[in-house]
Amino acid sequence: MERLQKVIAHAGIASRRKAEQLILDGQVKVNGEIVRELGTKVSPTDRVEVDNVKIEQEDKVYFLLYKPRNTISAVTDDRGRDTVTDLFPNVHERIFPVGRLDFDTTGVLLLTNDGEFSNVLTHPKYNVEKTYVATLQGVLKREEMRKLERGVMLEDGKTAPARVRIISSDDRKGKTIVAITIHEGKNRQVRRMFEAVGHRVSKLKREQFGFLTTMGLNAGEWRELTPHEVKQLRALAQTGKIG
Ligand code: URA
Repeated sequence: MERLQKVIAHAGIASRRKAEQLILDGQVKVNGEIVRELGTKVSPTDRVEVDNVKIEQEDKVYFLLYKPRNTISAVTDDRGRDTVTDLFPNVHERIFPVGRLDFDTTGVLLLTNDGEFSNVLTHPKYNVEKTYVATLQGVLKREEMRKLERGVMLEDGKTAPARVRIISSDDRKGKTIVAITIHEGKNRQVRRMFEAVGHRVSKLKREQFGFLTTMGLNAGEWRELTPHEVKQLRALAQTGKIG
């Protein structure tokens, strides 16, 4: 169930505020009856009319984007930078990113117009695992790895246990490539975790979100999730298991 003004806004008829005014002015009917209460909730099967014209409720859509660098995980940007939704010029549904990746982070980012789905996947009480591959300045030492695995203190609290695996380590160049798996989603969490043990992250990619990867896509490309993947993601968020 969604609030009536949201359904009207999502159908592209008017802004949320304008939709409220249409309701207050008696221009909106639900199943043939004029409704003037702003809190009214409707389901996708309810017939909603604005000025006696039935509105089409938008279908829910789900995309997996291989986010490129230098794009912002938002629908609009007041500084005029490219946003991830700019990569979907022919998609007319009002999609938004599920959570965020930093401007210069690449990798798996989901986009949808399904607010409830997005809440389930980003809510801290649910735990979808995310694996990042980070290029670090300096060589990551064993004790530093252990600290990350146990959890490190950040300004907004201690991080939950993480899995850390060194992919390659180059003493001469002073750099380490490492995979880290976490299930929280604190702001800039991975960068801050490595900074907390003394390493700056120079490159960061989200390799995996739950069971989803960027396989088959180049940076900037996207595909639709299958209905089965959408179902599996919901199950994963709620139980930590697929299926
Ligand atoms: N952690 C970060 O530091 N940045 C991201 O973009 C995602 C996770």
